Amino acid sequence: MKTSTMSATSALPTTNKHLIRWVEKMADLTQPDSIHWVDGSQAEYDALCAGLVDAGTFTRLNQELWPGCYYARSSPNDVARVEDRTFICSLSKDNAGPTNNWEDPFVMRKKLKALFKGSMRGRTMYVLPYSMGPIGSPMSQIGVQLTDSAYAVVNMRIMARIGTPVFAEIDKDEKRVVPCMHSVGAPLVGGKKDVPWPCNEEKYIVHFPETREIWSYGSGYGGNALLGKKCFALRIASNIARDEGWMAEHMLIVGVESPDGEKTYVAAAFPSACGKTNFAMLIPPAGFEGWKVWTVGDDIAWIKPDSTGRLRAINPEAGFFGVAPGTSQKTNPNAMATLARNTIFTNVALTPEGGVWWEGMTDAPPPHLTDWRGNPWTPESATPAAHPNGRFTAPASQCPTIDPAWEDPNGVPISAFIFGGRRPQTIPLVYQAFNWSAGVYIGATMGSETTAAAGAPVGTVRRDPMAMLPFCGYHMGDYFRHWIRMQRNLTETPRVFHVNWFRKGPDGKFLWPGYSQNMRVLKWIVDRVRGRVRGKETPIGWTPKYTDINWNGLDFSYDQFSQLQAVDRETWKKEVMGHEELFISLHDHLPPEMIYERELLICRL
Ligand code: GTP
Ligand code: SPV
Ligand code: MN
Repeated sequence: MKTSTMSATSALPTTNKHLIRWVEKMADLTQPDSIHWVDGSQAEYDALCAGLVDAGTFTRLNQELWPGCYYARSSPNDVARVEDRTFICSLSKDNAGPTNNWEDPFVMRKKLKALFKGSMRGRTMYVLPYSMGPIGSPMSQIGVQLTDSAYAVVNMRIMARIGTPVFAEIDKDEKRVVPCMHSVGAPLVGGKKDVPWPCNEEKYIVHFPETREIWSYGSGYGGNALLGKKCFALRIASNIARDEGWMAEHMLIVGVESPDGEKTYVAAAFPSACGKTNFAMLIPPAGFEGWKVWTVGDDIAWIKPDSTGRLRAINPEAGFFGVAPGTSQKTNPNAMATLARNTIFTNVALTPEGGVWWEGMTDAPPPHLTDWRGNPWTPESATPAAHPNGRFTAPASQCPTIDPAWEDPNGVPISAFIFGGRRPQTIPLVYQAFNWSAGVYIGATMGSETTAAAGAPVGTVRRDPMAMLPFCGYHMGDYFRHWIRMQRNLTETPRVFHVNWFRKGPDGKFLWPGYSQNMRVLKWIVDRVRGRVRGKETPIGWTPKYTDINWNGLDFSYDQFSQLQAVDRETWKKEVMGHEELFISLHDHLPPEMIYERELLICRL
């Protein structure tokens, strides 16, 4: 390490002794060639991107077609989050619960020390300060990521607020800073030549909830490397939130504006790749003239009661890390507008003109492409051109429907929570919980069908409580209890709904057209929240009558709707048995309300 970088303390962008000492200590451990304190400026971003182009990590896209955009291909063994390598290292194993991997923190620290020892040799260590949430917001949290990946730094500049203003926040010494260590685990020693996507076969994504620390090793991809996102904003933040009486959720946030200007905000939890980005950027269909849907966030919500006892939410992120395949002018024009410039594309296909393409972007694929592995590709090729988890990293500010209040330091008021998953059978298009504890039960027992891409048998339902199965940083039973308790401090309780865009008929086809048509469901939800329509009672909750839905502009019959909304008592009894599987594993931490709710549901059925 160039010790001069550290000893010239006067030139450092922070006066915080703890931070400086920690950086020194970590540099001693990882032995980088140099240290770069990230200021977050455009000039710095441009220089880092130019360096990534020189290193072969980035391809600068055709600037006429894709201004400000870059393209990256990862190593084929580093393409997604690694749930089986993700650990919650709480002091007691019981605190992590049966849904998380656990290792004794003492043992894990030893392991990590060995892995990180010299792991940054031959590389630059970036000191990346970031704020999750608008800088200075009372709901924001601060982290500092030390990383040897310039790719992570430039992605984080889009996904979070970073740099000089965050150092200024740290120097105020008002908020606890979450230290985040990240190394791709590929030191350059003995004249070793770098590769475009350095990473390590061995991966560890580790969280220490008590000390609020993150250590990530071996991966440069997505949630493994952009540590503000899943590691901090969900796994560590869920711990902070439980202790402080707020909520960190895997939820999108939207504002629904009626023709006369009434605005209603809702937050919705759908599992990964189940349509959060699409719903967050929904454009109302024909028949909804004058209605607008405003985007606040597409992946994470931090939600806190205000002084009047109302829940308010912020989007802690500043960008979208969205699934590219399936995104098109037809399915999500707002996303297409958002990613048209200043965007980083990873693991999609490259066109001969220096543009990008992915499955579903256009009806007909281009005749010649370079696929995400860097191989020539034609429509006859047996494998997809883009990886199914290929993603775009785009600034939220570029979204045409970004809500005027999206950076409000006090957040937006939340009137409803919506849960949903991929359920080809059993679950109706929409129903409303009878009350809060019934709503928590609905969230706790939600499931989603595994797809062939997930490697599991198709058609099996994986329980994914509140879409948080891979993201809850403590015992899932205690998390349900926290949800139950949250209501006690509220003067206004959000209504709770469940939706399912994915129900199929006997012919295997979706019964519901989905996408912009989901507005019809969203309007019913708003009408219920505002007390404008009565619900129809069923054993599982309140449902809409056919005539309660606005059908202007869509040809959808009473019979079709009845099929979509059907609640079959026998199938539902089997569904409740499915709830049991999860509850049995959580039994010693399960709040009694979950048992009562199950009993009530069984009685009604
Ligand atoms: P993460 O970023 O992984 O947390 O996921 P996400 O929830 O933001 O996922 P995303 O929006 O990328 O999900 C895309 C998938 O949902 C694609 O397979 C879409 O085809 C599908 N999808 C989105 N909306 C609808 C809908 O209304 N109906 C149907 N049938 N599919 C939909
Ligand atoms: C998810 O998997 O839910 C994501 C993508 O949002 S990642 O940030 O990679 O976790
Ligand atoms: Mn997500």
